Amino acid sequence: MKEAEADEWQESEEEVEHIPFSHSRYPEKEMVKKSQEFYELLNKRRSVRFISNEQVPMEVIDNVIKAAGTAPSGAHTEPWTFVVVKDPDVKHKIREIIEEEEEINYLKRMGPRWVTDLKKFRTNWIKEYLDTAPVLILIFKQVHGFAPNGKKTIHYYNEISVSIACGILLAALQMTKMVTKEVASVSFLIL
Ligand SMILES: Cc1cc2nc3c(=O)[nH]c(=O)nc-3n(C[C@H](O)[C@H](O)[C@H](O)COP(=O)(O)O)c2cc1C
Repeated sequence: MKEAEADEWQESEEEVEHIPFSHSRYPEKEMVKKSQEFYELLNKRRSVRFISNEQVPMEVIDNVIKAAGTAPSGAHTEPWTFVVVKDPDVKHKIREIIEEEEEINYLKRMGPRWVTDLKKFRTNWIKEYLDTAPVLILIFKQVHGFAPNGKKTIHYYNEISVSIACGILLAALQMTKMVTKEVASVSFLIL
């Protein structure tokens, strides 16, 4: 991006209204209790490879995504897009794309060391759960944005910002006792 374009965006951002910070502090004992409970909750999270087909309320999905969207981001660019997929045909197409990429990962792309390191997980490129799960949340990073005048804007630390949002999403899902599955093999699914 040229400097002049960045300056233009910078100026328009200066007009943004200040959001006041509100905060109330817990007594020390309460802090310890809450931190212990939160740790215990998160310590129960597991990456499972079998997922129930039981429907989940969309309100829950909306809320966990809203929670993820509270993440900090480089220069407050919020460089993420969450896409919720429920349609069985679309889910199946996603599964096909991922399995095709994963097969290449296992058979040639990642190499024998990776395949050996993964042996303990007993995984392969077949991902039935992508059909079974009632909802898939696809997370995209936005490598740049657009200013109101249509010019490209920089999304600083976009991958780190999206990773933090993913972490919050996982924690929010754990609060609901729903399970999640990370799939890193295809770049458009995670990061
Ligand atoms: C970035 C990332 C990529 C991952 N990719 C895969 C994957 O492709 N397939 C898979 O079965 N698990 C994947 N996992 C899950 C890890 O294997 C899992 O987090 C790890 O074994 C620890 O287990 P836990 O999540 O149950 O604590 C991934 C996790 C992360 C954070």
